Amino acid sequence: MNDSSLLWDDGALVTIDQRGLPHEVRELRLSTVDQVIDAIRTLAVRGAPAIGIAGAFGVVIATAVHTVEGVVDEAAVQAEADRIAAARPTAVNLAWAVRRVRQKVAEGADAVLAETLDMLAEDGRVNRAAATNAADLVQGLCPDRPLRVLTHCNTGRLATSAFGTAIGTLRVLSERGAIEQVLVDETRPLLQGARLTTWELAEAGIPHRLTIDSAAAWAMATGQVDCVLVGADRVTANGDVANKIGTYGLALAARHHGIPFVVVAPESTRDADMTTGREIVVEERAAHEVTGFGGTATAPAQTEVFNPAFDVTPGELVTAVVTENGVVHRNDPSHGAAIADIARELYRRGWMPGTAGNISVRTDANAVVTGSGLSKGELTERDMVTVRVADSAPVSGQERKPSAETTIHTAVYRTRSAQAVVHIHPPFATALATRSAVPGALTTLRITDYELIKGLGGADPAVADIPVFPNWPDVPRIGADIERYLLDHPDALPVLFIAGHGITAWGDNLPQARDRAECLEALCELVSRIGSPAAFGARDDILEIGLT
Ligand code: MRU
Repeated sequence: MNDSSLLWDDGALVTIDQRGLPHEVRELRLSTVDQVIDAIRTLAVRGAPAIGIAGAFGVVIATAVHTVEGVVDEAAVQAEADRIAAARPTAVNLAWAVRRVRQKVAEGADAVLAETLDMLAEDGRVNRAAATNAADLVQGLCPDRPLRVLTHCNTGRLATSAFGTAIGTLRVLSERGAIEQVLVDETRPLLQGARLTTWELAEAGIPHRLTIDSAAAWAMATGQVDCVLVGADRVTANGDVANKIGTYGLALAARHHGIPFVVVAPESTRDADMTTGREIVVEERAAHEVTGFGGTATAPAQTEVFNPAFDVTPGELVTAVVTENGVVHRNDPSHGAAIADIARELYRRGWMPGTAGNISVRTDANAVVTGSGLSKGELTERDMVTVRVADSAPVSGQERKPSAETTIHTAVYRTRSAQAVVHIHPPFATALATRSAVPGALTTLRITDYELIKGLGGADPAVADIPVFPNWPDVPRIGADIERYLLDHPDALPVLFIAGHGITAWGDNLPQARDRAECLEALCELVSRIGSPAAFGARDDILEIGLT
């Protein structure tokens, strides 16, 4: 066979029978719908993208069979398509591919075949693009070292049609000379890792060692794994990932050891219509897969078995999901932990009293923000909510509600390149902002001469013009005021007051945003202690306070 593991030849789908590997490379010709379904069910053809394409060829066969004198019996073909799509429930690619070619059935078998061949051609390109994106990400996450990567199941050219996803990423990393060694999980009970991944890695000349599934956590604990790379069978809208049983345990262990856990998949594996992983149907397979090994019984006859073929890893454990479009979900637990650390520190100073105040960090098109109504003294990394910068909406599937003041944060992210925002209620700054406010209107407080002005991050070390926004009960209105102001004032300082409310500061990272907020509070304390603010009134709309 050539590089593609799936070929169309004279009315039949021709593939490698994956059940025979690694000992026997035997060709499998599938020329009936029942043969295609059986091959998918018995894992002769397996892997999410591969079963999708095989299913589409099944629809080609069904359309040809149910065409008499040029007329397609559409109802009969659609019934066959339903049977094919149901052959395995978990990988969304099967349903996706069958749905895609179904639309061509009325045009006849040649049209269904043309669509399927397009899909086949796309698959190799898409996998290479996803793998290249993932390799770039992994090298960014784990720079400057030859990598020791752990992988699970088989995600190579057998599981797709060509190149592979997680294994494709190993191919790209290997081409770049960035692989020291791959640790291959055996992948009980059907041994896709032991039988197929080792075979593909040997074929590609990528150094590897095989290990039992239960050694993976220990390999991480003993410093032998830099990164975990796996494929996926379905990625739901909130970033939960269904993949081969054992993946969830790997993600938990990787999180415990601070090891990046990266999922590589084509866009066709993403299921935008499914909100969370709780809705995924996990295939359960026959007991004999567990009660025996290599044809020999290893458990007493009649032993009851739990044999799920997949598990669902919560999105929060996944460092990133990467497709041909780039990183589509990113989850850096260090953001949540860093936010929680700073929140607890600011709480102890009395600047986030009770549940007040909120902190966020930007992650590409999203931001991670503190959840609503939580005591800032007890915050943990699990108390964060991911929201979209564009419209402040939480990414679906999260249980917590984001901070009620999220719109203040996203207004900053939409208008500045800031990476972190701190919104707090320190007493001196809040009091000064309140005293300086003009009810219902935006005003500016000018503070001059204090050395601490330099700490606010502005261009002028001697003068700080800080806007004082009115405090509307409708928080999005405050966000809208801030957004408008920042658009109109490209040189504005990265700090602001909200009268009767508190302050907001931002920066390139969380410590910088926090430092700016600290400087503003310290400045306001100085101004307050030196006495009544002197208003010089150079301009009606500016209240000026300084040493001179
Ligand atoms: O039961 P399988 O072998 O079909 O399960 C396959 C997996 O779980 C793969 O990791 C997944 O389909 C990705 S293949 C690129």
